[in-house]
Amino acid sequence: MRIRQLSLADLPLLGHIDRAEHQQIQYLVENGQLISRPIDFDVPGWDPVGTGAHSVANMIEFAQPIVARGGVLLGAFVADAVAGVVIVEAAFEPDMAWLALLHVDRAHRRHGVASELWDAAVDRVRAIEASHLYVSATPSGSAVGFYLSRGCRLATGSEVNDGLYDLEPDDIHLICELQPNVESSQPQLDSGPQHKAR
Ligand SMILES: CC(C)(COP(=O)(O)OP(=O)(O)OC[C@H]1O[C@@H](n2cnc3c(N)ncnc32)[C@H](O)[C@@H]1OP(=O)(O)O)[C@@H](O)C(=O)NCCC(=O)NCCS
Repeated sequence: MRIRQLSLADLPLLGHIDRAEHQQIQYLVENGQLISRPIDFDVPGWDPVGTGAHSVANMIEFAQPIVARGGVLLGAFVADAVAGVVIVEAAFEPDMAWLALLHVDRAHRRHGVASELWDAAVDRVRAIEASHLYVSATPSGSAVGFYLSRGCRLATGSEVNDGLYDLEPDDIHLICELQPNVESSQPQLDSGPQHKAR
């Protein structure tokens, strides 16, 4: 697997990611506590041609201004096929970065793709001295399970970002404290030519 930094022109790669998922766990916050309950729900893939809320076009429209104002777009590639994408914006709040988007293709899940994208994104925001990362997470077992596995905790009280909460009130709002930068086996960013969508 290789992690590459991508550009605005690469956003159509989102259309190569199968977002579909069968959800069996849903998270919610009750009385300030994170709780889970069983569900049985199929999330379809993004609509490849329409412009509705669950379309590729809508995802690109969401991501475009974030990347245009300096958000870092990274892709994970397995044998030149995109396996996952992350967008992280360092200049979100003072000392706080924002994980704006993270998706791994259905066929590539549970193989560490999101973990490698997370490590690379965290490296980028730590490099400009953000010490915390904010995530407005889809309330699914996979998304919340992943972020908890990265050490995130529930945002509480005034920590909850009002703008993101208004956008996604059912999301689970999380904060991850980033450890100080240390030499480690973080994945290497490929400094070669950027992948082009077409
Ligand atoms: C959430 C998502 C990004 C995780 O990607 P992934 O590449 O499968 O994650 P990883 O393989 O790096 O998993 C790392 C750890 O996260 C946790 N995790 C991942 N998927 C999980 C799941 N379905 N249920 C519970 N925990 C999970 C586990 O602790 C896992 O470690 P393990 O495999 O050793 O048990 C992926 O499932 C996805 O794209 N889902 C649909 C889109 C989505 O919800 N994105 C997040 C929007 S906020």
